[in-house]
Amino acid sequence: MSGPNISEQVKFDPDIEGIDPALPHKVTLRSGAVMPIAAFGTFHSDWAQDYMLDATKEAIRLGWRHLDTARAYENEEVVGEAIRQAISGGYISSRDELFITGKLWNGHMSPRDVAPALENTLKSLGIDEIDMYLNHWPWPNVHTPGCAGDHRNPDAVPYIHEAFMETWSEICKLKKAGKIKDIGTSNHTRACMELLMRDAAEDERPLVNQMEMHPLMQQTELRSYFESEGVVCTGYMSLGSPNRPARDTFKEHRADMRDPVIQQIASELGVAPPRVCLNWAYQRMNKSGGYVAMATRSDWILDNLKASCEDLLSDEQMLRICGDGTPENPGIDANNRLIWGQVFLWPEADGDWRLLWNDKHVFFTRNGYQAFKKSWDEHDKALKETTHQG
Ligand SMILES: NC(=O)c1ccc[n+]([C@@H]2O[C@H](COP(=O)([O-])OP(=O)(O)OC[C@H]3O[C@@H](n4cnc5c(N)ncnc54)[C@H](OP(=O)(O)O)[C@@H]3O)[C@@H](O)[C@H]2O)c1
Repeated sequence: MSGPNISEQVKFDPDIEGIDPALPHKVTLRSGAVMPIAAFGTFHSDWAQDYMLDATKEAIRLGWRHLDTARAYENEEVVGEAIRQAISGGYISSRDELFITGKLWNGHMSPRDVAPALENTLKSLGIDEIDMYLNHWPWPNVHTPGCAGDHRNPDAVPYIHEAFMETWSEICKLKKAGKIKDIGTSNHTRACMELLMRDAAEDERPLVNQMEMHPLMQQTELRSYFESEGVVCTGYMSLGSPNRPARDTFKEHRADMRDPVIQQIASELGVAPPRVCLNWAYQRMNKSGGYVAMATRSDWILDNLKASCEDLLSDEQMLRICGDGTPENPGIDANNRLIWGQVFLWPEADGDWRLLWNDKHVFFTRNGYQAFKKSWDEHDKALKETTHQG
């Protein structure tokens, strides 16, 4: 299996002391729930999967109180076991000390599958109710775990609002039934969110959207819009996900922790570059959002949590990262998206992954999409018949 040097990457050290879980910054959601802004990520492709039990337990020991989980990570049982061991080890006295985020996988978005999917998640995690349940992606497109980057599912579809609302309505029912405390979305785009906000009742609106956000992919405008709707944004790939498998990595990708401006600020502060990325994530936009980060070393796990406890970056350093829209201060945002999502593409996207993100293929109804698909098929056929396809 390809990957980094495991003996360097996996080091659990019981002599490293944790921090008081009261210290990390928290945000209050519209429901009144209090969410620690730093969430310990429980997904890592391939090599680290074997270490997630110990890493999650270690995160709890060191003071993390928000766990980011998903059915798609194929390790909810492992996280459940980590929670049990954290309780028996005395790191927490009960599950209630944790804020647990879970996600409905794309393959379970059919209305009849939503309740059983959540039931499985609760059972695997060993809990009766989940604190935050996110709809993982806006469409039901699935891929096989670990599939190659050029994998395509011929049944994949773009966002169809009518279908999404059927899924959302099932999620809302489970909230009313007391299985979910609060609900949210993940990877929602602006158009999808506008439609959801248009059609959801006040108590059925999402409170959180989890999305890719890091210094080289800041998404400030999108986040501002979500916040104007009362949706708190948490960012994943906060460090630029440096150890991603080759199948998910493209030559355009850059890891934020290796960016020269991030490295320069780190050296000014005498900290490691990842700490700059995470402090930026915490301090930006009036500390209104959060971040998800995973690691498999005690020192990194601790440092990643400390970033949500103190204002390390000065205003001037924040400005160097964020910029202010002037030529003098451009910042370092480069729209460097790491998750292109190409494996989720539908046939009419014609291989252009940008369509997942730019809202050009958003449909109100199934009929609307079918009409578009029919005309696209005819156009595609005519194109192939009348042009040189060499
Ligand atoms: N909602 C979604 O669709 C979605 C998508 C992707 C991810 N997520 C969530 O976001 C989490 C984080 O994503 P990610 O793991 O891809 O990206 P990431 O947090 O940007 O990167 C994690 C990587 O950085 C390394 N690292 C962590 N802390 C470090 C430190 N202090 N110093 C040096 N290196 C450090 C880790 O190393 P080691 O692995 O070597 O320990 C790991 O390879 C996932 O676990 C998941 O929970 C959600």
